[in-house]
Amino acid sequence: MSVLSKDMPCASRDFLEPNFLAVKHLRKTFLDKKRKVEAIKDISFSVGKGEMVGLLGPNGAGKTTTIKCILGLVKPDSGDITVSGIDCRRNPREASKNMAAVLEGARNVYWRLTVWENIIFFAGIHGVSVVKGKEYFEYLLEELKLKDKRDTEVRNLSSGYKQKTAVACALAKMTPLVFLDEPTLGLDVESSYELREALKRLQSEEKRTIIVSSHDMRVIQDVCSRVIIVSGGKVVVDAGVEELLSLFRTRSYRIVLSRNGNGTSLEEIRRKMTQVFPQAGMTETRDTVEIKVDLKNAFEIYELVDTLRDLRAAIETISQEEVDLERAFLEIVRRENEICG
Ligand SMILES: Nc1ncnc2c1ncn2[C@@H]1O[C@H](COP(=O)(O)OP(=O)(O)OP(=O)(O)O)[C@@H](O)[C@H]1O
Ligand SMILES: [Mg+2]
Repeated sequence: MSVLSKDMPCASRDFLEPNFLAVKHLRKTFLDKKRKVEAIKDISFSVGKGEMVGLLGPNGAGKTTTIKCILGLVKPDSGDITVSGIDCRRNPREASKNMAAVLEGARNVYWRLTVWENIIFFAGIHGVSVVKGKEYFEYLLEELKLKDKRDTEVRNLSSGYKQKTAVACALAKMTPLVFLDEPTLGLDVESSYELREALKRLQSEEKRTIIVSSHDMRVIQDVCSRVIIVSGGKVVVDAGVEELLSLFRTRSYRIVLSRNGNGTSLEEIRRKMTQVFPQAGMTETRDTVEIKVDLKNAFEIYELVDTLRDLRAAIETISQEEVDLERAFLEIVRRENEICG
């Protein structure tokens, strides 16, 4: 993990099988038109049985390649992957019986089959017969609001329904581990909400291990208890969502200064603040100056207060800012880019 994660909290490991999925020192380089692309430089993490984990990262970070390596669709250069103790590289067939996935941008379902036929087909090739799975398949249709579309050919569905059908087919395989790569892509606000609610219910009732990759932070913040952030082919953060947010909450401050105090001129405040805290933003109203600053660590608050005291700035309020996952994510990736140049 990068230097950034030094002060990050470690994700909790209170699961019965904390290493249900274990990825160790994964590496993958592609050859693209004779140019080497290091998609994964060194990725290690483990996921406990029953955990719902978010995989986040900017475009090209290596999320999909990691998922494909685990699924056995891409051959890694090196590294170890085990699922339920089965070595995915040595025993890919046995390992794949434990996994199902909805892959980003891939056609995950057959367009000339109906929703129901797709579910039966994909569950069937995974060894779940209609007799065994019928009741559960009906439940999935209900949960994913697909009942009305049951007998519609997938090619005649909107992209949102196609996506939900793909999720239903993956879940119908009844595997203990499920990967959802961008599951809410193309869904409208309501469908995205419904899918998230359905995933939460399914996960809490069935205790399946679900790994969700998404650029929509609301999805991850809403459904996942833990987040793994990947950047430049490496894991830069592996932490509980709440722990990560509270860490950032203690670092984001909003300070309101009165312009009517006897302190230093606005220009001087701006000059000094830019010098000490180049990341700070300042806005002015007729009576106040508002400063927003994300501190690099919790102890910088002392430096901030000292700087304001030296300036003899008239402080009206100092408050902590509400932080969501999107803001925390952007800040982590910005700092990681700064470190890596
Ligand atoms: N088959 C391939 N051939 C060559 N390069 C590839 C191949 N697959 C992925 N890459 C490259 O590997 C890197 C990681 O890609 P990957 O798809 O894993 O990223 P990602 O994190 O899923 O990104 P996104 O958020 O855009 O989905 C990128 O630079 C990508 O261009
Ligand atoms: Mg991807």
